[in-house]
Formats: sequence, C-alpha cells, structure tokens
Amino acid sequence: MKEYPVKKFINLKNLTVITAEQIDVHLNLYNGYVNNTNKLNEILKEKIKQQDFEGPQFAELVRRLGFEYNGMRLHELYFAALNKDGGKKPNNGFKKLIEKNFNSFGNFKNYFNKIAAMRGVGWVILYQDKETKQLSLHWIEQHHNGHPAGFVPIIVMDIWEHAWSAYLKPTERSQYIEDYFANLDWQICQSRLV
Ligand SMILES: [Fe+2]
Repeated sequence: MKEYPVKKFINLKNLTVITAEQIDVHLNLYNGYVNNTNKLNEILKEKIKQQDFEGPQFAELVRRLGFEYNGMRLHELYFAALNKDGGKKPNNGFKKLIEKNFNSFGNFKNYFNKIAAMRGVGWVILYQDKETKQLSLHWIEQHHNGHPAGFVPIIVMDIWEHAWSAYLKPTERSQYIEDYFANLDWQICQSRLV
C-alpha cells in the first residue's frame, strides 16, 4: 500500500479572521492523522503477511484505522475549501440545487448552523447521494461515526474545538461558524458535485 503524503495548502494564507497561528496548530494535527494512517497500514500489512489476527490488539488496530483515515481525509477536504477570497455565495447552479433540496438558501444555511451548534465534537458535512443526486446534511461524530455509505462530501466543516481554540475561546463556537463561512470557497465545493 502506498504511503499517504502530507498535503500542502497554499490557499490557507491570509484567511479572513482565522489566524495563521490557528491554521498552523490545525495543520500539525492533520500531520498526525496522516502519519498514524500510514503507521496503521504498515502494521496491518505485516499482520496480513504473518496472518496474525489474534487478541484485542488486532481488533483495536482495525478500529483505529477508520478514525485516523477519516481524520486525514476530512481535514484535507476542509483545508482545501478555505480561501481568503471565499465567503461569497454559491453560483447559480449550486444555489439552485441547494434551494431544490432545502426550500431556500436561507433555510439551508440556518439548518447548517443549527447542526454546527450542536453539542459534541465532529463535523458538519453536506453530502451528495451519487444515486439520486440529492443533497443532505449530516452530523459526523468524531471522524468516523455517521458517514452515509457511498455519499460524496461536498462541504466539510470541522467542528472540533481545536478548529478555533487558538484564536477564540472554547465557548465562541458561533463566532467560528461565522468565520468558517467567511472563508468558504463555494467553487471548490461545487467542483465536488457528481
Ligand atoms: Fe480539525
């Protein structure tokens, strides 16, 4: 299995309100997920070779892979869609699709914000169902619980406190939600539609 690289995100320079320090802290965490995913794949590769599947250690390694892998991939989707020139509304085609699925853009945005304000750590993700082309919003607990199988992630918001705790208080989640949308690159998100 090929090693996953730590990706670079030149788009993260000079974001609106979200500080460079915040981004550095967050990118360091992302590095950890990439390293751990590679480490787990390496250990599991050896276990497959040895056919060594005994004991709780093996079960925990397999369980951990979903957490680390999603931690890596979701952060990549999150970072790639932030930009100082973001924050505008989606263009007409994307906006119409959102309106079709959520009645109006305002209703969608309000629903998104309400999910983001829920207690707990995880992600708010706008998905598209590849089969029906419909959009739906989901709360993903931590990194690995609640993903709808086969759906494509379109908008990926990190709502772990580490996403804002370097520049805001832990209680200032609502400010972070505003700052996230002030930087969201709708065009990148639109390019993920199937
Ligand atoms: Fe994060």
